[in-house]
Amino acid sequence: MQDIRFFSGEVLPLERHKVRIVQKLNLLPVEERFACLQASKNNLYLLKNRDIFLDMLTDSGVNAMSDRQLAAMMSADDAYAGSETFFELEAVIKDIFGMDHFLPAHQGRGCERVLADLLVKEGDLLPMNYHFTTTRAHIVRCGGEIVELLCEGAEECESTEPFKGNIDTKALADLLATTTRNVPFVRLEAGANLIGGQPFSLANLEETYRICQEHKILLVVDASLLQDNLYLIKKREAAAKDLTIRDICRKIAANSDIIYFSARKFGFAKGGGIVLREGPLVGKLQELIVLNEGFLTYGGMSVREMAAMTVGLEESMDESIISQGPEYIAYMVDELSKRGVPVVKPAGGLGCHLNARGFAPDVPGEEYPAAAVASALYLAGGIRGMERGTLSEDRLPDGREKIASMELLRLAVPRRVFTLSQIRYCIDRVHWLWENRELIGGLRFTREPKILRFFIGELEPTSDWQDKLVAKFRADFGDSL
Ligand code: F0G
Repeated sequence: MQDIRFFSGEVLPLERHKVRIVQKLNLLPVEERFACLQASKNNLYLLKNRDIFLDMLTDSGVNAMSDRQLAAMMSADDAYAGSETFFELEAVIKDIFGMDHFLPAHQGRGCERVLADLLVKEGDLLPMNYHFTTTRAHIVRCGGEIVELLCEGAEECESTEPFKGNIDTKALADLLATTTRNVPFVRLEAGANLIGGQPFSLANLEETYRICQEHKILLVVDASLLQDNLYLIKKREAAAKDLTIRDICRKIAANSDIIYFSARKFGFAKGGGIVLREGPLVGKLQELIVLNEGFLTYGGMSVREMAAMTVGLEESMDESIISQGPEYIAYMVDELSKRGVPVVKPAGGLGCHLNARGFAPDVPGEEYPAAAVASALYLAGGIRGMERGTLSEDRLPDGREKIASMELLRLAVPRRVFTLSQIRYCIDRVHWLWENRELIGGLRFTREPKILRFFIGELEPTSDWQDKLVAKFRADFGDSL
């Protein structure tokens, strides 16, 4: 893909699409934002969408569709069994991955559920670059234990390593050579979500596959965040410079046994599925899909979503389309770094990740720094990010907090959704918050659920720090929103 240079020399991520359908956004005055934050008990999941200006909670299921996707949805073939729309989707997926079978599922965790049910048994060990919450939950549910083998430095916020999502292949080889436990599969997650959307390299995948084959162990790739990973391989890995995105995709498939994905991220739609070659697992997985997800020609997805996904996956093979997300993220990372704001580096996929420990060094882990910065950013700009730190962990068996290794506030950049001025507004408000970071205090639970507490837990500030932050905003911005 050829770059587009500005005469001025400025480097800007230029959108390669135009906006033809819009949704009005509300930006409430800061006092009303404060009232909404209090009503949602300092838990941004409990906010109403109408009270949010920029929703950067996630990229899941909220990516913008193209005109071609919307058109395809109108002519989807509706049938419980044998829908033509499914066969069109299947053909595109088989072509992209060069594999024999596509088994549909309602979303990523549906794939994880059937894979864990089939493959994971009590006492099994599952090596991976890094876990995702739903993946871990299904593996643990089936009695497995995960072991994370990230490459060195992957959990350092600031680094120059281009592929922080790489698995440590030496550690993997040692583990497989010495363990006496059953290892049903090794899992490699594209765009490792919880460490900041960090990619793996093609070389790392190839070496991992070689090791797995040597030990006759399956390699499963979680391709939910593959779109950004594909682009970052193309940009950062010399050996992939002259490959097309489709070539890279095929190489990834040729170096894995099973690929599964959430099409809420990969495919600009909503759904998911498992892709694999012919073999004894196919029939068994099909039975579990029918039992848990739906018949083999829809797997829990609506035919409209399948039609949108068929086009969306084709669009994902176009570098000038998939460049937009990572380029916006890189722009945010660069601009925030210039202003001294601590962010995860290098820029990955999915979103820009603020290092909340750097932001609020005096807020102890037990008072949830990333959640505190998240609440502060909603006050500062009506922006909703997602806490990725201690609050998202479970307590230790003795009741103490398990302090997360990384305390991040994720600002997701859903694909094709925001304009550059909205991104610049976000940078501006994060910058303002950074300059006023000494005002940020902690949070504590007033209601703490036992399971996945971050979704519906209720919190309050540990002091009147939010009142002071709101007052400072008024003082700095006058009567501006
Ligand atoms: N794997 C990865 C790497 C993911 O990021 C997700 C979802 C899943 C699996 C599960 O897929 O939601 O379709 O069931 N990540 C979302 C997020 C929830 O906000 O990062 P799902």
